[in-house]
Amino acid sequence: MALREVALSPQRALAAKLCVNHLSMVFTRDGKSTPVLQDITLEVSEGEFVCLVGPSGCGKSTLLNAIGGLLAPTAGTVFIDNEAVRGPDPRRIFVFQERGVFPWLTVEGNIAFGLFKLSRSEREERVAHYVKMVGLQGFEEAYPSELSGGMKQRLEVARALAVNPDMLYLDEPFGALDSITRHIMRGELLRIWETERKTIVFVTHDIDEAVQLADRVVILSARPAAIQRIVNIDISHPRDISSPRYLELRDGILQQIGLAHKI
Ligand SMILES: Nc1ncnc2c1ncn2[C@@H]1O[C@H](COP(=O)(O)OP(=O)(O)OP(=O)(O)O)[C@@H](O)[C@H]1O
Ligand SMILES: [Mg+2]
Repeated sequence: MALREVALSPQRALAAKLCVNHLSMVFTRDGKSTPVLQDITLEVSEGEFVCLVGPSGCGKSTLLNAIGGLLAPTAGTVFIDNEAVRGPDPRRIFVFQERGVFPWLTVEGNIAFGLFKLSRSEREERVAHYVKMVGLQGFEEAYPSELSGGMKQRLEVARALAVNPDMLYLDEPFGALDSITRHIMRGELLRIWETERKTIVFVTHDIDEAVQLADRVVILSARPAAIQRIVNIDISHPRDISSPRYLELRDGILQQIGLAHKI
């Protein structure tokens, strides 16, 4: 097996942007405890793109929500820039699959939504920049109901980026899209990431998506999720998805989670 296990980020010269330190989560309802996350320790470097994968219901969203300060962990701490995360922070933005954009605002209105602190001219400039970046020129005045699913998703990504977050948390953001649009959206996200170099934590259960996008893929076990393995995707972008190395990495991950040669 040629998978290389990398316990910590390869970019060790940079201090960790995000540090998840012995994080555990137990949900309790009616006196019954459900352990969901089990002693998760992970470092993510500034500008790194990390994908979290694992079986459905294992705790991926719970981990992302804990990283983002939406859920308080039962044990352990999340640090960003060496500061403990104690709640949501406007510098860190979530993109969820199901949240969607504001239907009552136009494309411009949606992107401008979080920019109320800027002057009018700065706001207009910022909005125009992101409209262009996600290829929605000509649709500035359109409402979400007039956009396709992929355009709405691009709008959501634009809205998230426009506030200039330092971290971007994406929870299966392309899950509801058809395979062609997903493919295009992955390319768009990569292009944006290569330009803007945000630190990205991306949840997906699509192994191909993870190997196409990530610097490292964190494989979680079934619930209660523990880190099973971290795989360094040592292929530069653009990635050739028919190259032997790509296939080797993808098949190695499938094997790790017990899905190889089963379909
Ligand atoms: N607020 C909550 N209270 C109680 N249990 C919860 C809560 N949130 C999640 N869970 C439980 O934690 C487990 C993990 O859920 P989570 O949504 O993190 O999984 P996931 O890996 O994101 O799944 P999927 O791939 O289906 O999105 C599930 O058993 C779920 O029922
Ligand atoms: Mg989930």
